Amino acid sequence: MVTQAKAPKKKESKFKKLFIDEIKDIYWAEKHLVKALPKMSKGATSSKLSDAIDQHLEETKTHVSRLEEVFGILGLKPQAKKCDAMAGLVKEAESILEDTDADTMVRDAGIIIASQKVEHYEIASYGSLVAFAKKMGLKEAASLLSKTLDEEKATDKGLTKLATSEINEEAAAA
Ligand SMILES: [Fe+2]
Repeated sequence: MVTQAKAPKKKESKFKKLFIDEIKDIYWAEKHLVKALPKMSKGATSSKLSDAIDQHLEETKTHVSRLEEVFGILGLKPQAKKCDAMAGLVKEAESILEDTDADTMVRDAGIIIASQKVEHYEIASYGSLVAFAKKMGLKEAASLLSKTLDEEKATDKGLTKLATSEINEEAAAA
């Protein structure tokens, strides 16, 4: 009892610092997406794809505010730290818009592959963040983060369905 836990406590705080850094990273990423998604939606040919992106834009705004809640739980002000990975993924998505012709399903197939790369990055991030939060006993944060994780997964699934049920076929036929 007397000699308890100095070392583990220190260890936990480094883990918490890693968690906070990663929260700042995904916060930057989500805010960057809020700016980028309208361009993708506008560039899409299929109204179904454009609707799916618009719906995810609304969800993404919620993801930003959930992260702000997580900052609050941690007793911190929201702070974004540039996420080079998301900056790169969005750049790739933008170059797909430049490299494909408007009003074609090939462009839509390109938007989908770029969007799924984004979703997978987010799924990887939130998956680990939920696990970190649970490990630290931050139940409320874990529950907020897992709501977002579920929405990212659903978006990814929806994009796969859209691609394989119609867009890829039309892209191949063009
Ligand atoms: Fe998100």
